[in-house]
Amino acid sequence: MRPAFVFGTRPEIIKLAPVVRAFEERGVEPLLIHTGQHYDYEMSRVFLEELELDGIDYHLEVGSGTQAEQTGKAMVKIERVLMDERPDVVLVQGDTNTVLAGALASVKLRIPVAHVEAGLRSFDRTMPEEINRVLADHASEVLFPPTEDARRNLEREGITENVYVVGNTIVDAVLQNSEIAERKSDVLERFGLKPKGYVLITAHRAENTERGSLERLVRILEDLPMKAIYPMHPRTRRRLEEFGLWGRVGSIENLIVTKPLGYLDFLRLERNAFAVMTDSGGVQEESIILNVPCLTLRYNTERPETVKAGGNVLVGLERERAVRYLRRLMEDGEFYRRMAEAPNPFGDGKAGERIAEILLRLHERGELRVKGSRFI
Ligand code: UD1
Ligand code: UDP
Repeated sequence: MRPAFVFGTRPEIIKLAPVVRAFEERGVEPLLIHTGQHYDYEMSRVFLEELELDGIDYHLEVGSGTQAEQTGKAMVKIERVLMDERPDVVLVQGDTNTVLAGALASVKLRIPVAHVEAGLRSFDRTMPEEINRVLADHASEVLFPPTEDARRNLEREGITENVYVVGNTIVDAVLQNSEIAERKSDVLERFGLKPKGYVLITAHRAENTERGSLERLVRILEDLPMKAIYPMHPRTRRRLEEFGLWGRVGSIENLIVTKPLGYLDFLRLERNAFAVMTDSGGVQEESIILNVPCLTLRYNTERPETVKAGGNVLVGLERERAVRYLRRLMEDGEFYRRMAEAPNPFGDGKAGERIAEILLRLHERGELRVKGSRFI
């Protein structure tokens, strides 16, 4: 059995590392294909090093571009590798352009696709990620929704075969790396931060980096009632500079802005934060796992489980709402406790192992193949 992993961005590396490890522990050596969608050291290599994914077989160096340029270029390059290597299955994770490219290139070569984190839906078709999710799910042969909610989304779209609810591999990643992070990272000391004495902020999504959105984000940052740290995605930084907002961000007294951080630093920062404010999918998940209240800088989420559980509130880019919730967390201990103690809906940290076991079993039974009759 030879599985291939196609990945290209920061969250894909983090969330697929536990699956790669699970295969390796079972004596299976996967083929690792990095599209190069993310390429800066602190967006890519740092994670490969920290998570010990050192044996990348193909670096495709696709880089940045428009949606079609990036997806198209990745598809062409992935197809070439897959034609040469003919793996038994291609694993993709999440909703990036790399995922869509990997899924389309594979299924058309009749190589089955296994989609990790299948079935998520924001029901917002203006997001590039939503288009990627839907199309990748429909191109996939084996689907690994993290929760029952996600499985139901697939069912509504007629996808019921080879669907396995396994939990989210982010739990595996957090459990595997939290202790190491506490031991190895000196991030709190480096930035002079005290546990529970700061808010951790991330925001990078396309819809939040348009001019109007960024102006609203800056207004929130200017009004924060507490010290904050913002490891900034390069896209956000570039857009702030382009729109002449960078200077305003730099002059906010209570705010530390830094380059993106490695996983160990970021996890330690997240675990010790008073609260997080984010538009990131992975950070919404990690915060509920780590018992840190999350205020999401979006108007919808494909992770509604976190909101239902009580650990996440959608505040959008509404300054008044965001600041009001943060103040309430600071002033109302009972409210803080309820949010912090919301139960983790993403499973037990064994998702990677389940995924490897299921795929190995399907392979043994000769069931890991693209079935011609699925929709007939
Ligand atoms: C992508 C995913 C998003 C995911 C995010 C993870 C899509 C459509 N979006 O968004 O779902 O949440 O990755 O972080 O696939 N850039 C750099 N250096 C890098 C990478 C990017 O400077 O190493 C800058 C470039 O200016 C680039 C911009 O960031 O144009 C956007 O990068 P891109 O990979 O297209 O999208 P992300 O915003 O990273
Ligand atoms: N992350 C990190 N360093 C940072 C910001 C985020 O290691 O400076 C990690 C974070 O812990 C999470 C993942 O990156 O596991 C989330 O990635 P991102 O927000 O880029 O993408 P999304 O999850 O929104 O697709």
